[in-house]
Amino acid sequence: MSNYDIDQIVQTIKSEGIAVIEDVLSEEYCDQIKSELDQLVQKRREDGHYCGNEVNQVLDNYFMGAPQLLELLTQDVTDKVMRKFIDNDYVLISPSARNRRILKDQEFGRKTSGHGWHTDSRFIGEGQGLNPSLCYMSILCIDDFTRDNGATHYIPKSHLRYERPADRNAELEFEYLEAPKGSIVIFDTALWHKIGEASGKSRWGVFNTYGPWFMKPYHRFDKMFNEEEMQSFTPLIRQLLHHDSIVPRDHNERMATLRRVNG
Ligand SMILES: [Fe+2]
Repeated sequence: MSNYDIDQIVQTIKSEGIAVIEDVLSEEYCDQIKSELDQLVQKRREDGHYCGNEVNQVLDNYFMGAPQLLELLTQDVTDKVMRKFIDNDYVLISPSARNRRILKDQEFGRKTSGHGWHTDSRFIGEGQGLNPSLCYMSILCIDDFTRDNGATHYIPKSHLRYERPADRNAELEFEYLEAPKGSIVIFDTALWHKIGEASGKSRWGVFNTYGPWFMKPYHRFDKMFNEEEMQSFTPLIRQLLHHDSIVPRDHNERMATLRRVNG
């Protein structure tokens, strides 16, 4: 199954801040996911739930209302890379599917994140970025990512600065995050990046950020499913949803924070 050179991928992310791994997801699989994501946007719009707007469709927690999409949370190559960068108890910090596509004559929604130069890293003291980064993001390219369809802009090696861009609107030299459909892109969240220009073409990407078990996620994933549902998931999915790392209620419940320690 796994013919990826994990050490090489890790090295590339360390030096460049980003690595593109091609041919991970099949064409048919991407097409199937694409239609499920399009249906989910439709459903969330009908239900009046947040899903971005007519120039940037955003499905936060894409598995809510579509539990079959939970499988998008983990792939063999991503799992191996996260275990190297974080540790065996790593968790999900933020999952969203995003399409930087203009839907003509369909005004809806609210503002979205990702505009202007930024990092998705964490800072402490007087803006000191944590070094090494705590979090790493994977992007599943469900469509081709090209400079014509809203591919993310990024600045190679900028993760090594471990600081925030001073001006979100600065004109900086950048590269386009281009990758063929079916690729997985993994990057260090300290990398400076920003959303690309919207176009009329579909550009679905699934963005999953992972971090250490002691970090707070964007949402309470462990509350999105009941215990019976949780037990029907694989141990790794449960772990990613924080099922095994929520702190005990008090000192009588148990001593350790982690319920299951993965070596
Ligand atoms: Fe971002």
